Amino acid sequence: MEKLLSGKTALITGGAGEMATVVAKTLAAEGSGIILVDIDAAKLETAAQDIRSSYGVTVAAYTYNLCDFSAHDAFIDRLEKENGPISILVNIAGITNTVTYRDITEADWDKMMNINLKAPFFFTRELFFRMVERKDGRIINFGSISGERGAKYAGPHYSLSKAGLICFSKVLAKLAGESGVTVNTVSPGIIASRMTDSLGSQVFDYDVPMNRMGTPQEVANAVLYLVSPLADYVTGQNLSVNGGQSMR
Ligand SMILES: NC(=O)c1ccc[n+]([C@@H]2O[C@H](COP(=O)([O-])OP(=O)(O)OC[C@H]3O[C@@H](n4cnc5c(N)ncnc54)[C@H](O)[C@@H]3O)[C@@H](O)[C@H]2O)c1
Repeated sequence: MEKLLSGKTALITGGAGEMATVVAKTLAAEGSGIILVDIDAAKLETAAQDIRSSYGVTVAAYTYNLCDFSAHDAFIDRLEKENGPISILVNIAGITNTVTYRDITEADWDKMMNINLKAPFFFTRELFFRMVERKDGRIINFGSISGERGAKYAGPHYSLSKAGLICFSKVLAKLAGESGVTVNTVSPGIIASRMTDSLGSQVFDYDVPMNRMGTPQEVANAVLYLVSPLADYVTGQNLSVNGGQSMR
């Protein structure tokens, strides 16, 4: 049977990270070639080896700082020259931080916004217009439950950066118009990962109706749906993967 993503190439930012690695494996299992981009060279090589050895797809890995804003357009050009056209972009790289509204400094704000919002904003641009020109492309931005309803357990600037990303997907979805390129957000809730280790394993059933944390695989499944032909007519949406935490 034909795989869902045969012939596609997916670029995944923050590709050495916990959720990104699972997303990469999930797309690779459906036949997509993989390009991982991350600032952490050691983790990146481990992740690339792991995917390469388990799936029969090409896996390229690039150590790159997504805050190197003026280098993005040339970098995208290099990636496509070396790997062919990129049909899927998943912007996963991000940081969190628990500084309070009272204590936050301008430097805290700038670091968070640079990595979580400014980086995907400028990194996506060159590839977005190439995708529109080719009438072929899928873009996913990683939001968060914090960006949907604000969070107390993360710094206020984290929530704002993720709210910005949810809106960024809508803006691009409108700009993509009738090209067939779709742009969506996947917003994880509380996912069992290093980012949530400090919370312990407990969630509260009044807050998370399903009364458990999610898994990286459950988030990756949502990404797979949105980048696949099953979601051809889905764009500008925010898909919440959070056990019902944000239902209204
Ligand atoms: N873990 C959760 O429960 C949770 C919940 C909601 C949203 N999210 C979001 O999901 C995404 C992935 O989360 P995770 O827990 O897998 O995080 P993670 O820390 O494991 O992965 C993030 C990756 O981004 C990379 N990165 C950071 N700054 C970079 C830069 N300047 N240039 C290139 N790479 C850079 C890091 O090296 C890391 O590999 C993040 O955007 C996060 O905000 C996570």
